[in-house]
Amino acid sequence: MALNLVMIGPPGAGKGTQAARLRRQHGIPKISTGDMLREAVAAGTPLGVAVRNIIGAGRLVSDEAIIAVVEQRLAKPDVAAGFVLDGFPRTVVQARALDQMLEGRGPLVVVVVDVPEQELVKRLTWRRVCQDCGATFGGVDTPELTGESSAEGAVESGRCRKCGGQLVQRDDDSAAVVRDRLKVFTSQTAPLVDFYRGRPTFSLINGLQGPDQVTADMNRAIDAALAKDSTRNRARA
Ligand code: AP5
Repeated sequence: MALNLVMIGPPGAGKGTQAARLRRQHGIPKISTGDMLREAVAAGTPLGVAVRNIIGAGRLVSDEAIIAVVEQRLAKPDVAAGFVLDGFPRTVVQARALDQMLEGRGPLVVVVVDVPEQELVKRLTWRRVCQDCGATFGGVDTPELTGESSAEGAVESGRCRKCGGQLVQRDDDSAAVVRDRLKVFTSQTAPLVDFYRGRPTFSLINGLQGPDQVTADMNRAIDAALAKDSTRNRARA
């Protein structure tokens, strides 16, 4: 059965970190709307030019623009066995559009990663990303986040442990923009929890645990969601 997975959580909850792990473990593509938009900005495409200031200010790109981006991506053949969506949907309008895109494509598994605000601010202001390979690193207290390399010491040395590239801070990780992103999450994205909560394939995960524990909880939630869905289908047949 295809694994169509959506990961929802505030900025810094660990969605990107976990999506990279699940991509490797389940052999499905990771679709990160934030990464796609940042790539468009870096490449100077018309979309990138249009969204550059919006992302920099921590606001949301229009539903219309981002729905078009995701629709195109989900039409590609590599998502036949499923996908992990990181950063989409972020509004109820986007969630409704996703339901339409996935009609007839198997169940949508929804995991919400819950982390308190104080921890989010700490993580985001610590975070550094490699400007060459895009790897993400956290503070010295969060080693082994990507599962591929230890972050310990990387932030201090300023070099990527994977490829040696320069580590930089994301433009939207300044303390002021982080505060605005958290407000945007509360007002526009948090309502998605109620939108999805009634579905049998919905789970809430404690993202304050170590990364390995979060991954284990996610895999348990995925297995339970897919089992519930097939039981329901058998009962209907
Ligand atoms: P996006 O790139 O999606 O940013 P975000 O949702 O704010 O999420 P982040 O990437 O900041 O955090 P994350 O949850 O992925 O955490 P990470 O794993 O990196 O979006 C950027 C912008 O694009 C938006 O603001 C908006 O403008 C636009 N956009 C994107 N999608 C859109 C949409 N659908 N609609 C409209 N606009 C859209 O981890 C964070 C840090 O914590 C890292 O340093 C990591 O190493 C560390 N960490 C991870 N897990 C743990 C753990 N368990 N314990 C301790 N540390 C951890």
